[in-house]
Amino acid sequence: MKEINITTKFLVYDSKTELPQDVVPLMNDAIEIRKKAYAPYSKFRVGAAILLDNGKIVLGSNQESAAYPSGLCAERVAIFQAGAIYPDSKILKIAISATSDEKPVTSPIPPCGACRQSISEYEFKQKEPIEIYFMGEEGEVYKSESLKNLLPFLFDKDYL
Ligand code: THU
Repeated sequence: MKEINITTKFLVYDSKTELPQDVVPLMNDAIEIRKKAYAPYSKFRVGAAILLDNGKIVLGSNQESAAYPSGLCAERVAIFQAGAIYPDSKILKIAISATSDEKPVTSPIPPCGACRQSISEYEFKQKEPIEIYFMGEEGEVYKSESLKNLLPFLFDKDYL
């Protein structure tokens, strides 16, 4: 028997204003687009903004459905849109912000498991890491240099 210990790394910024200069507008885009979320059931609004290597920004907000599992998270709305419209471009960064109509969201909101798996697919596809920044509606912002920090033991194409 042996033990495996995995360490992971995040940077923590005190607030949005501390972010690198090029990330501030990307996070502002995520904050703006979260207002367009269709979230009548959870009242939890998430926005995602993706910066591509061609300079384009692709946005997404969560879209819900009365048949709950049929909805989609903001991150996947954005990343699938990026993949669909710019299949040959690399994804450099993703900024994520979340808020709720019902309570303050002051802690950073990470992408859910399914979104992590979906983002990892694009890291494999492009063979380069994707920077991920996530926050609540205000307060600290966490940065991960790569999706890998968020999903140890991820399932990838090499297992197929
Ligand atoms: N949601 C996201 O958009 N991203 C996540 O990573 C977590 C959850 C959405 C899905 C649903 O519309 C609402 O937040 C509550 O789960």
